[in-house]
Amino acid sequence: MKALVLAGGRGTRLRPLTNTSAKQLFPVANKPVLFYGLEAIRDAGIVDVGIIVGDTAAEVRQVVGDGAQFGLRITYIPQEAPLGLAHCVLIARDFLGDDDFVMYLGDNFLVGGIQELVAAFTEGDYSAQILLTPVDDPRSYGVAQLGRSGQIVGLAEKPDQPASDLAIVGVYLFTSAVHEAVRAIRPSARGELEITDAVQWLISNGYHVHSHLITGYWKDTGRVRDMLECNRIVLESIQTRIRGTVDDRTEITGRVVIEPGAVVEASVLRGPVVIGADTKIVGSYLGPFTSIGDRCTVEDAEVEYSIVMNASTVRGVSRIEASLIGKGVEVTPARATPNTHQLVIGDHSTVRLRG
Ligand code: G1P
Repeated sequence: MKALVLAGGRGTRLRPLTNTSAKQLFPVANKPVLFYGLEAIRDAGIVDVGIIVGDTAAEVRQVVGDGAQFGLRITYIPQEAPLGLAHCVLIARDFLGDDDFVMYLGDNFLVGGIQELVAAFTEGDYSAQILLTPVDDPRSYGVAQLGRSGQIVGLAEKPDQPASDLAIVGVYLFTSAVHEAVRAIRPSARGELEITDAVQWLISNGYHVHSHLITGYWKDTGRVRDMLECNRIVLESIQTRIRGTVDDRTEITGRVVIEPGAVVEASVLRGPVVIGADTKIVGSYLGPFTSIGDRCTVEDAEVEYSIVMNASTVRGVSRIEASLIGKGVEVTPARATPNTHQLVIGDHSTVRLRG
């Protein structure tokens, strides 16, 4: 059994942050979302992992390396353009050989691991297995329609009128039968080779595709609110670990992680909160479900239910909430006169100001 991890794609829904960074490396509780997937793969007993990389290949290679830090052997497979998930399988043919494999979308976040799923697939007699879960708005996902006995009747990619509320989760299990399918299908209306179409091809051509309804938590972290929600879920289960310095004017309630070199002075921390290495929190309030990266400064400010990435500064501003702040960002007050907002913001940014 091998794994194919997809870490290409453009991440348009997370612009402008994805103009400069791979969305798969965005931090959830200060750890790249991709790492959770790689750890789940390792815990399922898989060692050989191919990672599909695109424009952000250099960053992914730098952070993930040869995989030794996870106990994995990683092969990088460059994709010249985001031509679809089934295209990834096509270009990974040499790496995959005729082995069974799990395909894991690098921006997907699945609580509970894949150990049992992989074991069940290895024992079962299916050509492929997809995971399904009910969602509120299935139109942004692949959608499955099931028959009375749970068999898959049909699949559709991002349908306008979904036949059910069952979204296809971005973790798939395949035998080598999928290679014929990805060669047979044609690009969709958005110009991509869709994995949903490849799985539908298998079904239409008499292959046995099993579907499994997951009960645990799953998110595709493609949008800001999904990133924040994932961050909340992971922070729910952190345990207090204080390795930095906290002065006696600081009040801490709930669980907090404070990494080495971090300094917290005259502040209020309401956990769960994580504070990265060498970060300074001074005279500030950090509210529940907040992650502050490494080498940040939060001074005379309030931040809640937000993610602040490495080397950013938030100083002298009132409560920031439900926000995703990139690397090396500065958020500070404007001059008192004239009474204006003053912005230097990259392309495709979102700014919501009060008053
Ligand atoms: C992809 C798949 C879709 C699946 C989703 C899960 O969508 O095409 O079928 O439901 O991943 O995350 P994308 O994220 O590429 O829009």
